Amino acid sequence: MDDQLALPVGTTLDRFIMRKQEEFPYASGELSQLLRDIALATKIVNREINRAGLLGVTGTFGQQNVQGEEQQKLDVIANIRFIRALRNGGEVCTIISEEEEGIIQTGNTKGKYIVAMDPLDGSSNIDVNVAIGTIFSIYRRLSDNGVEGTLEDCLQDGTKQVAAGYIIYGSSTMLVYTTGCGVNGFTYEPSLGEFFLSHPNIKTPKDGKIYSCNEGNVNSFPDGINAYLSYCKEQRYSARYIGSLVADFHRNLLKGGVYLYPPTAKSPNGKLRLVYECNALAMIIEQAGGKATDGSERILDKTPTELHQRCPLVIGSPDMVDKVEEFLTAEMVTAL
Ligand code: F6P
Repeated sequence: MDDQLALPVGTTLDRFIMRKQEEFPYASGELSQLLRDIALATKIVNREINRAGLLGVTGTFGQQNVQGEEQQKLDVIANIRFIRALRNGGEVCTIISEEEEGIIQTGNTKGKYIVAMDPLDGSSNIDVNVAIGTIFSIYRRLSDNGVEGTLEDCLQDGTKQVAAGYIIYGSSTMLVYTTGCGVNGFTYEPSLGEFFLSHPNIKTPKDGKIYSCNEGNVNSFPDGINAYLSYCKEQRYSARYIGSLVADFHRNLLKGGVYLYPPTAKSPNGKLRLVYECNALAMIIEQAGGKATDGSERILDKTPTELHQRCPLVIGSPDMVDKVEEFLTAEMVTAL
């Protein structure tokens, strides 16, 4: 009867994080606190995005980031908000951000964790009200506590991530994350200011019928990729490409599909960044039963050598990723 009159609201992100922590008797709560800090920054950034048109924060900032890309005002705002939340939270010693060339020291030399993030991904879509996102990876530092984090701390393999996640600011705002025990998704309820568990234990379909890539680049894709795209058309798969990595990834994760950003003439190593884009999504897709490779090598096995290193990405349903690799291998054999 109670339930009919007042439906339960469900599990909040805070309660979920707390319960998960209780499952690890030796956990000290620092990672939980760090996840809560990210959730707080997310709520603030979500507010800024929702009101962007009214606050006059759409459009470019007038500067380029380290990648030579035009920074949007909201890129800069999101960067400030996340850095501030992580600095005030106290658990993170060092941050890597798409928006800043070098590593960022928070001053929390006792913080155990390193965060790599793209504070606002797909931000060229802001001005046209298309879904955008935030991507983050969390690593445990290798250096001793009590000093600043090092470059070595920041260039760890993706297999060393202790947690990874993304936020999608879409028709609703969702936070999806993993700590290595499955993937869970939380939807934001703005009137309560809380994230609620809405997508427990996400598993991606083994196979799918959606392929996502910028086909404007076909003239400079590797032959194997073009052969795969012809195969997709023969199979009458759907082409879906938003041009916002998080949004394309999120759709394919839930519905089954593959996202491809291969090498192109303009970006011979692919466009996406290994440390704060590919690794996080690779951990999530693997935890959901999918796969992520650069066309031949597992993304999580790659050792980064630079903070802003780019890498090709093929990610999604496992059977589809395998198929892309089959085409790439067949093409290499023919080329010999
Ligand atoms: O992070 C780079 C990014 O904006 C992704 O979000 C997106 O998937 C991709 O670039 C789009 O690139 P392009 O415009 O070359 O298709």
